Amino acid sequence: MNILILGSGGREHSLAWAVLQNPKCDKLIVAPGNAGIAMIADCATLDINDGGAVVSFADENNIDFVIIGPEAPLAAGVADDLRAAGVLVFGPSKAAAALEASKAFTKEICAAANAPTAAYGHFTDAASARAYLADHPAPIVIKADGLAAGKGVIIALTDAEALEAVDTMFDGSFGAAGEEVVIEEFMDGEEASFFVLCDGENVLPIGTAQDHKRVGDGDTGPNTGGMGAYSPAPVLTDAIAERALDDIIRPCMAEMARRGTPYQGVLYAGLMIKDGAPRLVEYNARFGDPECQVLMMRLGAQAFDLIHAAAEQRLAEMKVNWAEDHAITVVMAANGYPGDYAKGSVIKGLEDLPEDSRNMVFHAGTARADGTFVSAGGRVLNVTARGDTLAEAQARAYEMVEAIDWPGGFFRRDIGWRALG
Ligand code: AMP
Ligand code: GLY
Repeated sequence: MNILILGSGGREHSLAWAVLQNPKCDKLIVAPGNAGIAMIADCATLDINDGGAVVSFADENNIDFVIIGPEAPLAAGVADDLRAAGVLVFGPSKAAAALEASKAFTKEICAAANAPTAAYGHFTDAASARAYLADHPAPIVIKADGLAAGKGVIIALTDAEALEAVDTMFDGSFGAAGEEVVIEEFMDGEEASFFVLCDGENVLPIGTAQDHKRVGDGDTGPNTGGMGAYSPAPVLTDAIAERALDDIIRPCMAEMARRGTPYQGVLYAGLMIKDGAPRLVEYNARFGDPECQVLMMRLGAQAFDLIHAAAEQRLAEMKVNWAEDHAITVVMAANGYPGDYAKGSVIKGLEDLPEDSRNMVFHAGTARADGTFVSAGGRVLNVTARGDTLAEAQARAYEMVEAIDWPGGFFRRDIGWRALG
């Protein structure tokens, strides 16, 4: 098959790496890709949020199957355009991707499906949001309704902070994403991510993970897109996963199908777990980044068969061959991230690192300049290892990190602490 992956991050590098291990892949193009992806696949310049452009590109390059990595093309309806043109695609329709693109929509689906989640109110003006806060004291969570690159959530610890957050949202600080606001009960517990494939009807779990959202060791400092992840997440036991499937995920997927907007793709459920019970924090309509990197490391070549089966509505016949393994990824980010950072700093030592089924450096934001790798983003490298235990994987990942010579970057030294502690 000729396969096109849309995206340019470490998530897409790991998807490309897994797809290439599968003999069904004849040709792989990644658009736009990055310097690490260019080492293993063809990269193409393409506006991946323009459905018409993606359809033409797929046609010109005899593409049989398109895998959509990030949320922006999903929210723009690129999967719909491809399906309308008769191209097989992995990724939900625009209507189904609203599970990520609109927090209020997700709340409505949870209510209809009777899925446990935080109590909430949905507002389109500051006055009624402020009035709701008068009856709902802090701690409380204020969210911009739309896509805000992970920055649209404010956890207010005092009533004053909550009022300020509401004003900030309606002041336009979050652009169109903040024109509608969801105010939510603060949920206490331990967070974990649950990944399932859906084909519109069937649901197949493909792994659990935990992310490290804060920039600093010991979970300090501002939030980021994720500074590291590992899989599996021990807190998401088989029993809790079953409960999440029965109480949250399957009823929500059935509700989506009932509305005539079946969900097809990967569903990323962010769960809050307390006293053995999961509640939904959020859905994402894509793989997590960097969670995808640890899932791909564990699934290897079968990842492609599973994704392909989801796209062809054949998930009922699939099963995952699990190994008793663990994977971890450490993000190396540019100094200053998640604030301002420079691009173009030289990264050395990558050539000497092992690249095999247990050790991989996935590139998140790199470019080539004068024959060397240079940084080209905030999150730059995902140093990933797999082992029989999480401790073994962690030790190897940090060995690789130490061998990378990049004065322009930094990393957290405690990825995996919750599971190892
Ligand atoms: P979201 O974009 O909805 O995932 O929110 C980002 C992060 O904010 C989550 O991963 C949680 O850590 C936190 N968060 C969101 N909603 C809640 C909530 N209702 N209670 C506690 N923490 C939350
Ligand atoms: N790592 C969090 C996310 O992908 O949303």
